[in-house]
Amino acid sequence: MAHGKLLRATLLVSLSLVLVEGTDPGFVGRITNKGLDYARQEGVTALQRELAKIKLPAFSGSFKVKHFGKIHYKFDSLQIRSFQLPSSTIAPIPNVGLKVSISNAFAEISGHWRVKKKRVLSDHGSFDVKIEGLSISVGLQLGNDSAGRPTAGTSACSAHISSVTVHIHGKWSWLYNLFRSKIESALRSIMEKEVCEEVPKSVSSKLQPYLQTLPVTAKIDRVSGIDYSLVGPPVATNNSLDLDLKGEFFSLAHRSAVPFPPPALSFPVDHDRMLYFGISSYLFNTAGIVYYQAGALTYEITDDMIPKESKIRLNTSSFGSLVPQIEKLYPNMLMKLKVSPTSPPSLAIAPESLSLAPTVDVQAFAILPNASLAPLFVLDVATTISATVAMKSNNIVGSLKIGKLQMSLKHSDVGPFPVQLMQAFVNYYAAQILLPQINARLAQGFPLPLPDHLQLSSPILQPHQNFLLFGADVQYG
Ligand SMILES: *[C@@H]1O[C@H](CO)[C@@H](O)[C@H](O)[C@H]1NC(C)=O
Ligand SMILES: *[C@@H]1O[C@H](CO)[C@@H](O)[C@H](O)[C@H]1NC(C)=O
Ligand SMILES: *[C@@H]1O[C@H](CO)[C@@H](O)[C@H](O)[C@H]1NC(C)=O
Ligand SMILES: *[C@@H]1O[C@H](CO)[C@@H](O)[C@H](O)[C@H]1NC(C)=O
Repeated sequence: MAHGKLLRATLLVSLSLVLVEGTDPGFVGRITNKGLDYARQEGVTALQRELAKIKLPAFSGSFKVKHFGKIHYKFDSLQIRSFQLPSSTIAPIPNVGLKVSISNAFAEISGHWRVKKKRVLSDHGSFDVKIEGLSISVGLQLGNDSAGRPTAGTSACSAHISSVTVHIHGKWSWLYNLFRSKIESALRSIMEKEVCEEVPKSVSSKLQPYLQTLPVTAKIDRVSGIDYSLVGPPVATNNSLDLDLKGEFFSLAHRSAVPFPPPALSFPVDHDRMLYFGISSYLFNTAGIVYYQAGALTYEITDDMIPKESKIRLNTSSFGSLVPQIEKLYPNMLMKLKVSPTSPPSLAIAPESLSLAPTVDVQAFAILPNASLAPLFVLDVATTISATVAMKSNNIVGSLKIGKLQMSLKHSDVGPFPVQLMQAFVNYYAAQILLPQINARLAQGFPLPLPDHLQLSSPILQPHQNFLLFGADVQYG
């Protein structure tokens, strides 16, 4: 007993270690029961079309009739006239996958028959079959391939038909009635077998290729891409199907390991929408690293970027009004500001707010007549930035609002000066020149990982601790 307890405790401990060590996803996709139900409707409609295309094999045999002897029959040119799957359900089965159950399906088949008894009898004609009470149960197993794309396979299929009714058109009806039950049971087993052969075929030829249109990498621009590959097979829970994706920005030029792990996400229990995405702060912060390392977060501000009507020119006479030494050393010259963060920006996501607290260096230069730059001073500027995010045609877009700037003089080539003098200038450049540029880039946003032909509707977007929760209904078409 004690031994068993110990074993169980050891198992639990090692299991929890595995869970702790396992990487959290940077992006979670959750398909709720409502979403699965929508997928079922679309899937069953597609399956119905495929089942109606089944080519049924001809079958033949013989039967004995008293005083007559053996009579041979053949049924061929079997054609499915219609196939209807009016009712079905789907359920996620924890640790297994999805189970699709179809009930009360029916089909109509027509074909050609022939009976033959050497020198005695030969007849042929058409027949109709009504297949009723067909139930189909399909287990779908979901996984991931080595590229992190979702895969789908059929783990089980069973089909059962409760009623087959054959109508044979012809004058020898007494004869047909003798072998009707034979035909009916032959047709029943043919149909049951064909349905369960067609289902896995449809899953691998229709569902799997569709799932594989999920973009596992999304190129964003010349600098970066997003890795949306699955980190493991989709996980079925009682109420949803969860897809854990890497959700990581990477450099197109040089992919390197991310120096921090994704935080654990605690998804709310919310099932109003068909689809939810949990977008971890990890995704945004890997973007921060990639753009920072690519030098893509360094902005240069020059006088030509400043509106004509502005009095705050970026030149040494304008700055000379604040720090006379600048104009004295570099009279009548244009200036350039180089703004670069001192570390990768990091977005903090909390239920109340999305914020960043970057520190940037603002380096000021005078542009000499020969176009080389003379360094003037470096300001250290800290601020808090509040971010808002929104959805724009399947893209997550953002915009930033700068808070108060805290400045200090980090270095000066023109002698010491009280940095407060610069406050109005720097505020102006930050809010009027720099921010619109950054916001224009953020307005392009980044795409959500969605397979082809899905339109989103009624989106919601809420910040939670360490992640954004995005929910939407989807429509295929
Ligand atoms: C599924 O993805 C994981 C993580 O990337 C990988 O280790 C595993 O090999 C993949 N499964 C298959 C069948 O390729
Ligand atoms: C899932 O449902 C089963 C049966 O309804 C129940 O026994 C089980 O506790 C549920 N699991 C969770 C995690 O809710
Ligand atoms: C510098 O700015 C002042 C206004 O502050 C303007 O009168 C002057 O023409 C500018 N000089 C240059 C070289 O652009
Ligand atoms: C530009 O002019 C400055 C001062 O006149 C000089 O020190 C510097 O070497 C020059 N640079 C180039 C590239 O000619």
